[in-house]
Amino acid sequence: MKTKITELFGIEHPIIQGGMHFVGFAEMAAAVSNAGGLGVITALTLRTADALANEIRRCREMTDKPFGVNLTFLPVVSAPDYPGYIRAIIEGGVKVVETAGNNPQQWLPALHEAGIKVIHKCTSVRHSLKAEAIGCDAVSVDGFECGGHPGEDDVPNFILLPRAAEELKIPFVASGGMADGRSLVAALALGAEGMNMGTRFIATKEAPVHENVKRAIVAASELDTRLVMRPLRNTERVMRNDAVERLLEKERTLGSSLKFEDIVAEVAGVYPRIMQEGAMDAGAWSCGMVAGLIHDIPTVKELIDRIMGEAERIICTRLAGLVTA
Ligand SMILES: Cc1cc2nc3c(=O)[nH]c(=O)nc-3n(C[C@H](O)[C@H](O)[C@H](O)COP(=O)(O)O)c2cc1C
Repeated sequence: MKTKITELFGIEHPIIQGGMHFVGFAEMAAAVSNAGGLGVITALTLRTADALANEIRRCREMTDKPFGVNLTFLPVVSAPDYPGYIRAIIEGGVKVVETAGNNPQQWLPALHEAGIKVIHKCTSVRHSLKAEAIGCDAVSVDGFECGGHPGEDDVPNFILLPRAAEELKIPFVASGGMADGRSLVAALALGAEGMNMGTRFIATKEAPVHENVKRAIVAASELDTRLVMRPLRNTERVMRNDAVERLLEKERTLGSSLKFEDIVAEVAGVYPRIMQEGAMDAGAWSCGMVAGLIHDIPTVKELIDRIMGEAERIICTRLAGLVTA
């Protein structure tokens, strides 16, 4: 399938794997890129610029296809070495960067000078237009359904995507709630040039996480996520578990006086315990409502081939049949 996004990134299928903390290692990114999508390494999971440079090298050993790096600019306790990460990305010959969180403007000249395309992840039309205005090459429009940080506007993709299509000139992909061929066709129909998936890619054979995480996603329904940190205006959609119930109880009790320090035990530094040790109640971890559509743990190639086959069948058979009937 050819879209503006496959052309922009030089990939076969219009499917991107969004950056994911403690999931987006070289194994994940290479598996997605080898299957014809765009795999993405998550920079902040690698503690230093040297570690990121090493991860980029490892990924290149596993694939000769294009892959990207996610740079997330979120409120964090101590600022990571962003200049070092940018250097590692440029020197590593990476050709796509997915930015997320705060405005990436200050990093764009260096990235563009190195021939790197930038796709910025946004949760609103307003931020998407800003990304376009500062010179981003594409946008990943992340609806309210998404795993991770959906922003504070709570607009689901059935509204957000066509609104983005009405306003944007640069291409965009649909992100949040995407799982299968139906998602891809719907995203294209609403004006997107492809789709970005997070949660769906965790439940694959190659995802470098503990089996308990994959099983938890398969077992979950669309009712099993919760929104946390809303009082801090840093809303995150996470999988429901004991730690999340504790966290929500603190939010209810403390109300508007809640501070980040009150919830450190439930949110800070919990990812290695969950993703690597499989301690599923260790804290809050991002997960999308799309868990309700995830029923198996295929290889990444099986997943992507299935999505593309299903999308083509829907477009060429079911939809074409409706208009000719
Ligand atoms: C476990 C997990 C960790 C994530 N970590 C990040 C991250 O570090 N940076 C980022 O930009 N997005 C992160 N995301 C968001 C994804 O890149 C993607 O935008 C989101 O998962 C899309 O929604 P979906 O889960 O419904 O597919 C994460 C998502 C998950 C599920």
